[in-house]
Amino acid sequence: MAGKIPQHFIDEVLARTDIVALIDARVPLKKAGKEYVARCPFHDEKTPSFTVSPSKQFYHCFGCGAHGSAIGFLMEYDHLSFPEAIEELARQAGLPMPREHTAPAEPQRRDGEEGHRLSALHAILERAARHYQIQLRRHPQRDRAVNYLKGRGISGEIAKRFELGYAPPGWHHLEEALGRGPAERALLQEAGLLTQREDGQSYDRFRDRIMFPIRDHRGRLVGFGGRLIDGDGPKYLNSPETPVFHKGEELYGLHQARQQRSLERLLVVEGYMDVIALAQHGIPYAVATLGTALTEQHLQRLYRHVDEIILCFDGDRAGREAAWRAVETLTPFLDDRRSARFAFLPQGEDPDSLIRRLGREAFEEQIARSLTFSDFLLENLTQGSDMRSTDGHARLIQKARPYLQRLPEGARREELLNRLAGRVQWSPQELARRLELPQRQRNSSRNERRGQRRPPSLIARIIAMLLQAPELAQRAGDPERLARLELPGSGLLQELIQILQQRPQTTLAMLFEHWRGRPEGQYLARIQRLIPPMEEGALVVEFQDAMERIERLIVESEVESLLKKSQNQGLSPEEKRHLQALLQAQRQG
Ligand code: CTP
Ligand code: MN
Repeated sequence: MAGKIPQHFIDEVLARTDIVALIDARVPLKKAGKEYVARCPFHDEKTPSFTVSPSKQFYHCFGCGAHGSAIGFLMEYDHLSFPEAIEELARQAGLPMPREHTAPAEPQRRDGEEGHRLSALHAILERAARHYQIQLRRHPQRDRAVNYLKGRGISGEIAKRFELGYAPPGWHHLEEALGRGPAERALLQEAGLLTQREDGQSYDRFRDRIMFPIRDHRGRLVGFGGRLIDGDGPKYLNSPETPVFHKGEELYGLHQARQQRSLERLLVVEGYMDVIALAQHGIPYAVATLGTALTEQHLQRLYRHVDEIILCFDGDRAGREAAWRAVETLTPFLDDRRSARFAFLPQGEDPDSLIRRLGREAFEEQIARSLTFSDFLLENLTQGSDMRSTDGHARLIQKARPYLQRLPEGARREELLNRLAGRVQWSPQELARRLELPQRQRNSSRNERRGQRRPPSLIARIIAMLLQAPELAQRAGDPERLARLELPGSGLLQELIQILQQRPQTTLAMLFEHWRGRPEGQYLARIQRLIPPMEEGALVVEFQDAMERIERLIVESEVESLLKKSQNQGLSPEEKRHLQALLQAQRQG
């Protein structure tokens, strides 16, 4: 597993990134004063309330409250994990990732050399995909493939979107096209495009097949599926496991589905052709597992993109059993934000045949009527237990226990508990006790929420000014003095001034990442706009005025503690003189 990425590296990556260019490439921005604006990509809106600040290297939406650094933007918009987002920005900036700090999805550890080898694999797979695509247009036997696709109702546009290709017949076609030297041949082999015979001879893995390039969620080419057109052999052939291809993690079609502007749900199906036929008929949100059962990694990926997934299964017994196995994997994921449905298809149909028969509307209607997770779970739990006997009740409770225990606490668990309680005619409280359900501790800080409603404090205003113009920190004097203040936020202000005095180029984005996952980061993001954008001279005046008030507060607190001490244990002559001086200063100030 990757370790913690060092803070200085995160700072470096952010320093070399321009958030305006990064966002503009995805959401075209318009200049407005010192900032840039657009319609928010994270919620529906008519007028732009999404702003990007080049000086803070921070984005913020007034409409929905979305905010963050370049890292946060990639996480939200490109659905990357934290390490993946950093890796992506590092790559764009040409910074090598520090050793051992690659995204967890990557195989093992990886140093510069290893990273290079993986890029070479992605590159040779890209070349192969291009090659297969060209063969679909030019090869003398292309008609076989083209007619097959036409016969299955696939248009040129969809074939292009999914980069479909044709691997021509012959044992050494790809090898001759791409494997000129021993280095290339070794790469083709490692990428799973060549197979080796026992006598050491290698030959093309995919021959006379329709080719489906498989991209990972970051758009990198990782493998292929190949479908037989006719003749002998397995109907589908996939790339073997390689350093870049892990069948149990990838979802075919996710890369294409992600191109949708607002992706709300994902439909999980079994086959390549299902994904493609659905896209052809106006359902661009289907993905397929690659001949494996649904894994935890699949679910992590799916729920990073959407809150709602619909799992499609055959209506037969095998389909029901596969669905029940999916429940096992799914249960711990289902907090109240996320949902899952189970769609069972009519006998003998798959999504491909069904959508062709029904069309988009009727298909979507059918999907909308599919079983919720709770329905399916309850149906399976109660199956085979006699609900009229106490014996049956006991069996039901025993069966239900492991599922309810692993289901996150929330409304769904509550609802299931009530429904189960009804079946066994117990009170939900009693049932919860019998099921030994873990209760989450309630430790959400009430203070924090109350703090949000308080009018901005002096400290908050000073912090906001520093975020707008970090160079002001040079006028703040020695931050150590602030330790005397016992006001909310004074510790943060002290640390902030220390950082900004040492590294004047620190942006809000870096500070935000510095405190990522801690309340300070959220606090900074929230108060950054407390001060309206001001012209520099006015800001300096405001800042000095505020710092003078801080100075007076420091003196006050010092006076107060000296007075207290004089009452309790008396003051040394030194302290007495100091108190006199402070009182004098107060009178004059
Ligand atoms: N699969 C596989 N290896 C096989 C058969 C199937 O990996 N030998 C995977 C493929 O991902 C395939 C999916 O399982 O897309 C569904 O296979 P199947 O049910 O056989 O697909 P069909 O719907 O019969 O395929 P088609 O519509 O192309 O005839
Ligand atoms: Mn099919």
